[in-house]
Amino acid sequence: MSKSVSDRELIEVAMKAREMAYTPYSHFQVGAALLTKDGKVYPGCNIENAGYTPSNCAERTAFFKAVSEGAREFAAIAIVAGMEGGELIRTAPCGVCRQVMMEFCDPETFRILLAVSPDQYEEWTLERMLPLGFGPKDLA
Ligand code: THU
Repeated sequence: MSKSVSDRELIEVAMKAREMAYTPYSHFQVGAALLTKDGKVYPGCNIENAGYTPSNCAERTAFFKAVSEGAREFAAIAIVAGMEGGELIRTAPCGVCRQVMMEFCDPETFRILLAVSPDQYEEWTLERMLPLGFGPKDLA
């Protein structure tokens, strides 16, 4: 269903989104690109804050942008990260972001691409990254 956007294209959007990262404290810049099942892509970057706690990860920025615009069904997310001015480093989403993914994604099919370039990436499922995750089904 999401065939119109390739993994390469999704990673390229994440790399572009990373350029917008607001990281005056950690200087660790993250970009994400979230693909809906109907082929829309929502980019996101991390946004830090002098109060530290209100900082938002790139992945959640992408999810909240998408959900706030009505998207509810997701196929994949590409993530790229690294220190400002440095190489991309394979980076996995934090626990809070994994939990946000649990809310909206099918753990068995949602693909998480941890990329260091448009054609070098690891592919994970949410199930593998958050085993026994707690989600909406547990409250049904
Ligand atoms: N960060 C993300 O945006 N995504 C991740 O997957 C890991 C961490 C951000 C949060 C903070 O702005 C910076 O990276 C350092 O933790």
